[in-house]
Amino acid sequence: MPLYGRPMRKLTRSHMQLKVNQTFSPNNPSLDSILDIREFEYYAQNKLPESITTFFSRGAGHEVTLKENVSAFDRIKLLPRVLRNVAKRSLLTTVLNQPVDFPLLVSPMAFQRLAHPEGEVAVAKAAQAHNIIMAVSTLSTYSLEEITANTKIPPWFQLYIYKDREITKNLVQLAEASGYQGIVLTVDTPIYGKRIKELRTPLTLPPEFEIKNLIAAGLPLKDVSSSKLAGYLASLLDPSLSWNDITWLQSLTPLPIILKGIMNPKDMQIAIANSVEAVIISNHGGRQLDTTLSSIEVLKLMKGLGDGKIEIILDGGIRKGIDILKALALGARAVMVGRPILWGLAVGGEEGVKRVLTILKAELDLAMALCGYSSLHQINEEVLHFPDKYP
Ligand SMILES: Cc1cc2nc3c(=O)[nH]c(=O)nc-3n(C[C@H](O)[C@H](O)[C@H](O)COP(=O)(O)O)c2cc1C
Repeated sequence: MPLYGRPMRKLTRSHMQLKVNQTFSPNNPSLDSILDIREFEYYAQNKLPESITTFFSRGAGHEVTLKENVSAFDRIKLLPRVLRNVAKRSLLTTVLNQPVDFPLLVSPMAFQRLAHPEGEVAVAKAAQAHNIIMAVSTLSTYSLEEITANTKIPPWFQLYIYKDREITKNLVQLAEASGYQGIVLTVDTPIYGKRIKELRTPLTLPPEFEIKNLIAAGLPLKDVSSSKLAGYLASLLDPSLSWNDITWLQSLTPLPIILKGIMNPKDMQIAIANSVEAVIISNHGGRQLDTTLSSIEVLKLMKGLGDGKIEIILDGGIRKGIDILKALALGARAVMVGRPILWGLAVGGEEGVKRVLTILKAELDLAMALCGYSSLHQINEEVLHFPDKYP
């Protein structure tokens, strides 16, 4: 039956071609055919073994925070401004005085060779191609120097404080000597969260993996079997970590200290009082304490606290450019992105990560244009509408 009385058109060869190009090919997608971060997740999960997918994607407890980190963004609706000449737009900014092409940093994530043989090196090259900063985990599968040898943009080093303070001190010195430009101290992990799915499908690190940074810092890891390595590393974390250690860390290094995992306004005030350079509002991507507020809700709670005193970065749940715009509108200097980077890495190595970053950047640019903004400093809360009971 013709629709609305019009005869149906026959599909021509070029229509068919278009259809074929837009169809998912789960086994071998071309990177250009991937349009959205969710599609990267789908392809990565098809490709990786279950224990790795579980380690990358799952969260703590019943995964309430894991889901909320993403869905809390969508509950904020937009009230776009119009007729504001958005013909020329700029996404350029600085993060702790470092010029970057757009306000996104790569979150620190352990064991990136699980996603792709080039692991952290591929991510560093992709971050360099986009002129953005990467944070490298203490538990990277390439050494700190191997990573900096492959990029001209000095990364940040993410530090866990271990019971053995000599090891911690050596790690900081290694990072400094290798040209890192900031120390990201993760403060939400005095002990390891309860990740039920991970406990059911445990990760065994391949025997050829070496946690080179910890070995270089003096930990005798060579004697630990690969099946026990992840548990052993977790047992080294120091649960006695306190604000005194921030002062100790500041005495060790001239590098800026960035606290990752601040969630409570009271802790934000203490961070400011302790002259910390930046904080990352983060619940570790829902991997530590379940049922915390989502990161974007916490950012809203912190409104006004950081103004002119400290840079605030939001981490957790960013899956599209619109999410970045919402975080900037609530006062974030920039956002950090975790899992989408691993999905890009798994699907296409360095090129896959570049494509993930290209998608997020283009989506931010589009969101800005459609909300009436031509530069980042114009973005503000007037375009956001919150549902009842949003903090
Ligand atoms: C596989 C994986 C490994 C991680 N490893 C670390 C780590 O070594 N240190 C750290 O501070 N955070 C680590 N994180 C947390 C991330 O830095 C970040 O907080 C989180 O992934 C952000 O959420 P998102 O994935 O929704 O973007 C890890 C996250 C994932 C998914």
